[in-house]
Amino acid sequence: MKDLAKTVLEIRDLDISFHSASETVHAIRGVDLILRKGETVAIVGESGSGKSVTMKAAMGILPSNGIINSGSIVYYGDDPEGSVTDLIKADKEWLRRNIRGKKIAMVFQDPMTSLNPTMTIGKQLILAISSHEKLQKKEAVERSVNLLREVGITEPERRMKQYPHEFSGGMRQRIVIAIALSSNPEILICDEPTTALDVTIQDRILDLIVSLQQKRGLSVIYITHDLGVVAKVADYVNVMYAGKIIETGTIYDVFFDPRHPYTWGLLSAIPDDESGGELYSIPGTPPYLSKDPVGDAFAPRNPYALEIDFKEEPPLFKITDTHYAATWLLDERAPKVERPADLTRRIEKMKKEAADYAKG
Ligand SMILES: Nc1ncnc2c1ncn2[C@@H]1O[C@H](COP(=O)(O)OP(=O)(O)O)[C@@H](O)[C@H]1O
Ligand SMILES: [Mg+2]
Repeated sequence: MKDLAKTVLEIRDLDISFHSASETVHAIRGVDLILRKGETVAIVGESGSGKSVTMKAAMGILPSNGIINSGSIVYYGDDPEGSVTDLIKADKEWLRRNIRGKKIAMVFQDPMTSLNPTMTIGKQLILAISSHEKLQKKEAVERSVNLLREVGITEPERRMKQYPHEFSGGMRQRIVIAIALSSNPEILICDEPTTALDVTIQDRILDLIVSLQQKRGLSVIYITHDLGVVAKVADYVNVMYAGKIIETGTIYDVFFDPRHPYTWGLLSAIPDDESGGELYSIPGTPPYLSKDPVGDAFAPRNPYALEIDFKEEPPLFKITDTHYAATWLLDERAPKVERPADLTRRIEKMKKEAADYAKG
């Protein structure tokens, strides 16, 4: 792990509520996250856990009923002056002009929401490039062609003249990535970019993101509900549940030594050759946060829940310098609980695969 790399984005104690006439939903309940230069940090959790809202807050694009109650989102600029900005306090117009889509670019699940169906992709790329930099037409065209080539689109000169509907879903997502890269961003936020694609296409997009990340030294925040995807892209993993990060660590910490029963559930839900088509899913549904859960928000779905889980919220217990989990099972007074045997079998298998892979 390159753990001495410079911090580029740091979220501290972020707390967000959504207000409507009838209720307040406490969607984000104290999130911390650090992104360092050249690294990929994943946020993983079921739908509704607060992944997108966390990143929307960082980008200043929360819907108007979303209120940031507290916290900071510090962006450490890459300019030589070493500017430091709390994106929450920053002027919205300044954010739009200087940070969002410039220093911090985003790729979302559905490429069609980011592309204009009535405009050729060449024109869309040229517009994106020209919005960042004044260039001659010829230069902008050349830059567009190079970007398309960089994201793996063959015959880019010909493809420039085509419209979004003439591309497959995977190719459209590549174009969106090309547009995101047009400002030469420092940070790339990917919010479920492969969720709408089928598995083989998904893997190719993941490979592309990894290779771009390495070539350009990008810092990436990768959001997904699928822990299987995380293994392919991330250096660090944050497992999110009901508006909190309940386990955080390196990819090895979380995949080889998971401690939170929710993480056990997510890992068990990854399709596996030996699961014989029978896919595990965590029973029940996440709480609706119109009132704060009492105790551990996961307790009602947790087969390993202790009495205290229903009464008091667990703190983040430290396991190692990189690995933390919020479960009372880590309290020294807790009874010894083994993770499910089937998961241990899977972990042994993943460890063996990783060792074989390292051997080449
Ligand atoms: N526009 C909105 N209005 C009200 N509540 C919202 C809105 N967007 C998100 N929320 C609340 O925030 C929670 C987290 O949403 P989100 O971050 O989009 O989840 P996900 O982890 O699937 O990306 C939702 O479960 C919902 O309660
Ligand atoms: Mg989302």
